Amino acid sequence: MAEMMRHVVLARYCEGLPVPEDFRVEEAPLPIPEDGQFRVRHVFNSVDPGTRSRLSGSDTYSAAQKIGAPMDGFSVGVIEESKHADWKEGQQVFFAGGWRSHSIQNGKGFIGPVYPGLPLSYWIGVLGVPGLTAWCGLKETAQFREDDAVLVTSAAGPVGATAGQLAKAWGASKVVGIAGSDQKCAWLKNEAGFDAVINYKTVDDLDAAISEAMPDGIDLLYDNVGNAMIERVLPKMKLNGRICVAGQVADYSLALEDRPGIRTTTPFITHQIMMRGLVVFYHAKLFPEALQTMAGMIAKGELKLKEERFEGLEAMPEAFCGLFRGENFGRRVVKVGEE
Ligand SMILES: NC(=O)c1ccc[n+]([C@@H]2O[C@H](COP(=O)([O-])OP(=O)(O)OC[C@H]3O[C@@H](n4cnc5c(N)ncnc54)[C@H](OP(=O)(O)O)[C@@H]3O)[C@@H](O)[C@H]2O)c1
Repeated sequence: MAEMMRHVVLARYCEGLPVPEDFRVEEAPLPIPEDGQFRVRHVFNSVDPGTRSRLSGSDTYSAAQKIGAPMDGFSVGVIEESKHADWKEGQQVFFAGGWRSHSIQNGKGFIGPVYPGLPLSYWIGVLGVPGLTAWCGLKETAQFREDDAVLVTSAAGPVGATAGQLAKAWGASKVVGIAGSDQKCAWLKNEAGFDAVINYKTVDDLDAAISEAMPDGIDLLYDNVGNAMIERVLPKMKLNGRICVAGQVADYSLALEDRPGIRTTTPFITHQIMMRGLVVFYHAKLFPEALQTMAGMIAKGELKLKEERFEGLEAMPEAFCGLFRGENFGRRVVKVGEE
């Protein structure tokens, strides 16, 4: 009998917030690599909020996920069979693998070797797409400058927490984070070194709280949340302020016509504000330095991270859906194979 692998497929398009019933676990024959390919046994897969933008049947910057097709995502694993000269059996790699137990790779695209010393799962966390998104969004997209007063939204997520800590390490005058629980806010302040934090779910007046935390205004908004937050923060931006549009977790599940908009572009004129979107993969030239530096910072305790682990491929839909209920505290990774 043929050896089998498992993967999670999209069972139907999501309407509103995703639910586990939108997905299905299936079996398929274990793929055999051809010349120039290798098969990776996945050890950890990640769940990523941005995936939601492709689950309503319409294209975004990448094509819509097809019903019945295995879910895309990021993974770390071990090469178990190789017909590629440069990738050897037994080598650990991070890569765009997906919600699967095994996948075929050809060494092209988002893939790299894992260096020993730190837990394997970190290579789909701060040493994976979230950390790289923080690094590239600050440095390239928002043109971070020393002394910037920085506001980060969804600050306790892996992107936000890393962005805030990098901004501090690079000489921000102040870093303020917005997050959705007291526990998240306490960690950001006490562990991750944010100067101030705001729980947007319990604060009486979010506008007043931001102004109180940043009375001199904001140089750099690192936004992971979406249009309503940008609209709120625009009047508080300083001259030559910069906004990195990194993510839209509050908007992904809304139909385009239901999404909040930005009413006026006047502050862009009066305060010469720059707002720029980020697709992290366009900044691949920054990845080697970013990974090496962040790995060093983690090892020295200068970059703190939170991780939540789930067990088994069938846990992936629930782990994913919880992201949109604010349940994750840090990076969610799912262990799908032995290390
Ligand atoms: N541009 C790129 O190339 C790129 C690459 C990777 C990721 N991203 C984006 O970066 C952002 C952060 O990613 P991440 O992996 O670190 O995930 P994350 O911030 O941990 O996302 C989940 C968190 O978002 C918050 N959230 C959920 N629904 C919300 C809502 N309606 N309003 C406000 N906050 C809400 C919740 O935190 P609270 O408890 O604080 O509400 C939840 O725990 C995402 O938007 C992602 O799509 C962009």
